Amino acid sequence: MTQKAKGQDDNNPLKKIIAHAKEYGFIFPSSEIYDGLQAVYDYGQNGVELKNNLKHLWWKAMTQMHENVVGIDAAIFMHPATWKASGHVDSFNDPMIDNKDSKKRYRVDHLIEDKASQYEQEGKANDAAALLDKMENLLAQEDYKGLYDLIIAENIQCPIAKTANWTEVRQFNLMFSTEMGAVADESGKIYLRPETAQGIFVNFLNVQKTSRQQIPFGIAQIGKAFRNEIVARQFIFRMREFEQMEMQYFVRPGEEMQAYQTWKERRMKFLTSLGLPAQKLRWHVHTKLAHYANAAEDIEFEFPFGFKELEGIHSRTDFDLTQHQNLSRTKMQYYDEETKERYVPYVVETSIGADRLFLAVLCNAYTEDKGVDAEGREKERIYLNLHPLLAPYQVAIFPLVRKDGLPQKAREVFELLRYDCRALYEEKGAIGKNYTRQDLIGTPFCITVDHQTLEDQAVTLRHRNTTQQERVAIADLPNKLGEVLSLRHWLKQLQ
Ligand code: GAP
Repeated sequence: MTQKAKGQDDNNPLKKIIAHAKEYGFIFPSSEIYDGLQAVYDYGQNGVELKNNLKHLWWKAMTQMHENVVGIDAAIFMHPATWKASGHVDSFNDPMIDNKDSKKRYRVDHLIEDKASQYEQEGKANDAAALLDKMENLLAQEDYKGLYDLIIAENIQCPIAKTANWTEVRQFNLMFSTEMGAVADESGKIYLRPETAQGIFVNFLNVQKTSRQQIPFGIAQIGKAFRNEIVARQFIFRMREFEQMEMQYFVRPGEEMQAYQTWKERRMKFLTSLGLPAQKLRWHVHTKLAHYANAAEDIEFEFPFGFKELEGIHSRTDFDLTQHQNLSRTKMQYYDEETKERYVPYVVETSIGADRLFLAVLCNAYTEDKGVDAEGREKERIYLNLHPLLAPYQVAIFPLVRKDGLPQKAREVFELLRYDCRALYEEKGAIGKNYTRQDLIGTPFCITVDHQTLEDQAVTLRHRNTTQQERVAIADLPNKLGEVLSLRHWLKQLQ
């Protein structure tokens, strides 16, 4: 078995990861037999495990570790007035521009950001900063003619046509819509939610009353969101159908900045606890705040295509609840027993894409280990350095041969472990190839049952990252693996 995935391009790290993800059952292009659907992806047998593990750890960290955070699962469809109140109908737009030669449409900010990255790569950091500054000013003023002029002045070209033959800049709403009911007309028009947050806002009082939570408290949710991203690039970084993991934390007005600082620290700790290195994470402070926010920062991760937003931590004031209160004419107020006051709470939001976190974790885990073998020949080993709690399988068990009672013994070991961890039993193939296959999907431990096992009741335990092997008594395996695979141990680190 070759370790390199088909279609792998040695000079493009992202392409290598995309090829690896497909070859080893993590991510497939959606409806590939029909040439795929742009910016929509399916998770394969290993991808779904990794993604579920990420979601599970986020959920545990948010709810189990915070007595004042509870979860909900709201519907994707919501009353259309929700999106009027939230501002998405009127202003969830992106300025776009079309290239007349390639007929391709681009987000204006992406084109300009790419030009700034090019300046940075050429060592012209000042030019890059000046360009981004100009762009942000023009975007804030909604000056579309100015954005067009900037694109022309910078000679920004279409990556496909390689020309600067552009249309004027126009606004496009990013929400997908469909019709509810039998008649397809405007009255039945409804949207696929572009963020999960609004399902939390509209349920704020339902949850508060039924959970008997007192402010400050939070509501967490994981769910699908949909955005008609015009230029959806960079694999699962920007998708049209994706999953968000969001938490809204409701506080007394005036106490939001303290909560904001606390959640910033907690969210960074969560990301590093998954094995993302601190030096690949940084804060990006929003200098131009949205009209409803009084503080906003993103955690950026260093993807193979540069530092990009991974998670947003935003202090959203009372904007959303007040908007819903005004439009629905339902009071969104909370009675504070302590202060004897009634008020619309302020909200601190943490919001991360499950798919984007998946990509960060996968990019970070992909390791090419170059070395020399016993005969002095160069060799390369590829493995996924996934946190043991995230790996699709945590332990793989093999009999050395398919005879002499070894499969039966190996199955006994499998039965011993499968209830406490994600274990895999495999009796086909040579041991070396089986190890390689597990390295490629990130399995942290392999166990081999050999003839000696029948005599000494011990097995060979192989460690993925070091390839080191040790002899361990079968009876000691649950303890030995237990600590590394322990959710309790991981959760305790978060405190
Ligand atoms: N409720 C706030 C909100 O939705 P956002 O910055 O638009 O804020 C939050 O999105 C997070 O959702 C982002 O930091 C990113 O991780 C993820 N996300 C947003 N758009 C995405 C897309 N098209 N594809 C994948 N993930 C996306």
